[in-house]
Amino acid sequence: MGMGPGMPVGTTGAIPTGLSFAPPALASAQRTANLVEITLTAAPVTIALGNNIAPEFWAFNGSIPGPTIDVNEGDRVRILFRNRLPQDSTVHWHGLPVPAAQDGNPMDPVAPGTDRLYEFSLPAGSAGTYWYHPHPHRTTHEQVYRGLAGLFIVRDPRDPLALAGVPEVPLVVTDLRLDGQGRIAPNTIMDDINGRIGDTLLVNGRRAPRLAIRAGEAQRWRVLNATNARYLDLSLGGRAFAVVASDGGLLAAPVEGVTRLLLAPAERAELVVVGSGAPGSVTTLETFAYGHGMMMGGFGSPAQVLLTLETAAGAAAAFAMPAALRPIAALPEASAARRIVLSGDGMMSAFAIDGRAFEMGRVDAVSRRGEVERWEVVNASFMDHPFHVHGTQFQVVSRTSGGRATPEPRLAWKDTVNVLPGETVAFLVRQDEAGLRMYHCHILEHEDAGMMGVLSVT
Ligand code: C2O
Ligand code: CU
Ligand code: CU
Repeated sequence: MGMGPGMPVGTTGAIPTGLSFAPPALASAQRTANLVEITLTAAPVTIALGNNIAPEFWAFNGSIPGPTIDVNEGDRVRILFRNRLPQDSTVHWHGLPVPAAQDGNPMDPVAPGTDRLYEFSLPAGSAGTYWYHPHPHRTTHEQVYRGLAGLFIVRDPRDPLALAGVPEVPLVVTDLRLDGQGRIAPNTIMDDINGRIGDTLLVNGRRAPRLAIRAGEAQRWRVLNATNARYLDLSLGGRAFAVVASDGGLLAAPVEGVTRLLLAPAERAELVVVGSGAPGSVTTLETFAYGHGMMMGGFGSPAQVLLTLETAAGAAAAFAMPAALRPIAALPEASAARRIVLSGDGMMSAFAIDGRAFEMGRVDAVSRRGEVERWEVVNASFMDHPFHVHGTQFQVVSRTSGGRATPEPRLAWKDTVNVLPGETVAFLVRQDEAGLRMYHCHILEHEDAGMMGVLSVT
């Protein structure tokens, strides 16, 4: 554990490690042809973590993380959201191309004790690893650190990895900090400035669980960074793995031989990991320390082990990585340009986009539906900010720092991109449906402090 704001002050250190790996629960769904009906109830619930530590979380359907929603391209999804929290909430379908009125915007709050039906269809080409989380005005950060987040997987029946029979391993990474009484600790002032870094990461609600893999076995890991503000600089004990998908689904081809992967808050990646070594040998999935800002003399995410990967006995059928995964068409040239400036430090100057903090009811930018735009996101602050746009997936074109532009090495669908201090990230983006779309920093404390704007698509 590191020093500073993330230093363990409570009882988190007593949570047992080394339990066996378990995927999140699956959301129970009522299926009639292509219609999938699901109920999500957000409510306080006490969850035992071992060693008599049993904090009260806020959870969807009683589990942390929330249950995984698992559906197919072409499905119509009808989700009844029941808000049994003591405050307003919403459910946002992060990364999915759902109509704006169904996307859980802060302008559409669901009051405590009331219900709301969300309904949308999942178009062809939308297969990928997404997630859902609340998005109420000013309290998104609190609702997420108290436990409200879950995976949302969309499948394509022609997925080459699924056709190859590669088993899937979902890894939902969340962040926990408890006080001396074993309760979830409220944010400190430093959390509100830097973003909350907890004491321990959990993978599917467990601390450093043990996952088994046979030598030669390929597993498809769907990794979600569902933390408020932690940067995950992932390494698998130096072993190489393949990256096969970004936020919005499969890449055109696997990127093999990767040994380090940075996942900013809200980003997802899919990895193919192949087991190796003698039965009983272990390696760890860990995150290295990452400094995402320079406030108060250095701050960031400390190094930590996320899970132990243990080689199990038994042989596995040889796995051949498909050479091609899914074609990605480059978005056509932009016919409009937009420049977005992120600024503020949370102390001397407020977090803002284009010099102003988010205001309910104000429209900050207007786009035409179906038009490709080139956005340049300029980070004029001293901290990293993971920039996110609702309702669509974009394609990063280049990253410019110190006057030097680095073209993006490959096409990929993204909905969240980290922007370093002093950096400008350019991407192409198109909104296909009319309505109000949020864009914001996905360090949730920054979003709630006003680093968010509203795009009106007309
Ligand atoms: Cu993950 Cu505005 O959302
Ligand atoms: Cu989103
Ligand atoms: Cu930020």
